[in-house]
Amino acid sequence: FEVTWNVGESQKGGYEHFMLKEISEQPKALKDTISPRIDESGNIKLDEFPTNFDNVNKIYIIACGTAYHAGLVGKNLIEKYAKIPVSVDIASEFRYNNPFIDKNTFMIIISQSGETADTLAALRLGRKKGAKILSICNVVGSSIPRESDYCVYTWAGPEIAVASTKAYTTQVAVLAMISLYIGKLRKTISDDEYTKVLNEIKSFPQKAESVLKMESEIESISSYIVNQKDVFYIGRSIDYYVAMEGSLKLKEISYIHSEAIAAGELKHGTLALVEDGVPVIALATQNRLFDKTLSNIKEVKARGGYVIAIAKKGNKEIEKEADVVLYIPEIIDELTAPLSGILLQLLAYYAAKKKGCDIDKPRNLAKSVTVE
Ligand code: G6P
Repeated sequence: FEVTWNVGESQKGGYEHFMLKEISEQPKALKDTISPRIDESGNIKLDEFPTNFDNVNKIYIIACGTAYHAGLVGKNLIEKYAKIPVSVDIASEFRYNNPFIDKNTFMIIISQSGETADTLAALRLGRKKGAKILSICNVVGSSIPRESDYCVYTWAGPEIAVASTKAYTTQVAVLAMISLYIGKLRKTISDDEYTKVLNEIKSFPQKAESVLKMESEIESISSYIVNQKDVFYIGRSIDYYVAMEGSLKLKEISYIHSEAIAAGELKHGTLALVEDGVPVIALATQNRLFDKTLSNIKEVKARGGYVIAIAKKGNKEIEKEADVVLYIPEIIDELTAPLSGILLQLLAYYAAKKKGCDIDKPRNLAKSVTVE
């Protein structure tokens, strides 16, 4: 008699890796995070949240790694809908710089595990200086929510793979809801826009499902990057923030060197590295910035780069310039991150799989970094 399975394998529910399982769970994770918080009249009910923002003149968003990338998207949303200036900082940097914190500062601390040492230390610094603290965490009862004034949980369920996936998309969903919530409190968003954005947030689970259906297409495109030395990700605004997350995913699990560059910064240095065949993953999902990004794509093409573009469904113009195009479903510019994010998670996953990497436990990395 031979035992051919173990507990770890069975927990993967038929998936080869936890990472793929967790990528696939995102429609559910998003639904669990969003649905219970929106009532029939379209009011957002956050678990714990201040009811008054009158005295808040500044928000700091602090996090590490993937959570930091979600925070960057959050800045864009909060500034747009709630009209409060937001600074986003990496926890290990924030602590050693000179942050302006006083009792009118609101801090949003983002952490999947709720235990990251630098993030926790940044929280304690803010608290000491009188800031009010809200955390966005996934692990219930972990240190960060325990030490915060308020916490809104991401209901993503346990995340086992070192590379974060469903925590990222659910963090973005919570930040989007928070931006609307504060916007409504402060009356900085019209009722029509509030309703429009809320409906788009509600569409995340179903649109995430459509992105997952592109799995085999993404798998085949990943072949191009497997044997490359460098991969560049470019984008503007939210596309740039998602590029940062896509690049992190690729390097952490496939060990392929990659960098994310703000598309407009390309010509200030990195363009020198683009030569024949170098893959450039170009995110071009922001309608308002499409022409600008397209001209950056042309710059890359003129140097022989191989462009894998990501655009919104229906965009035919991009096909004339890019070598290949992957489409995300139609959604407002502000909310593309979860969809293009999932697409780039799959791209990194299949590149790493083709290289035969230890996807769930990449070398030198830990799921939760509890040392500084
Ligand atoms: C580690 C993980 C990353 C994660 C980061 C922050 O580096 O490998 O996936 O994004 O920590 O973790 P946290 O639990 O604070 O979100």
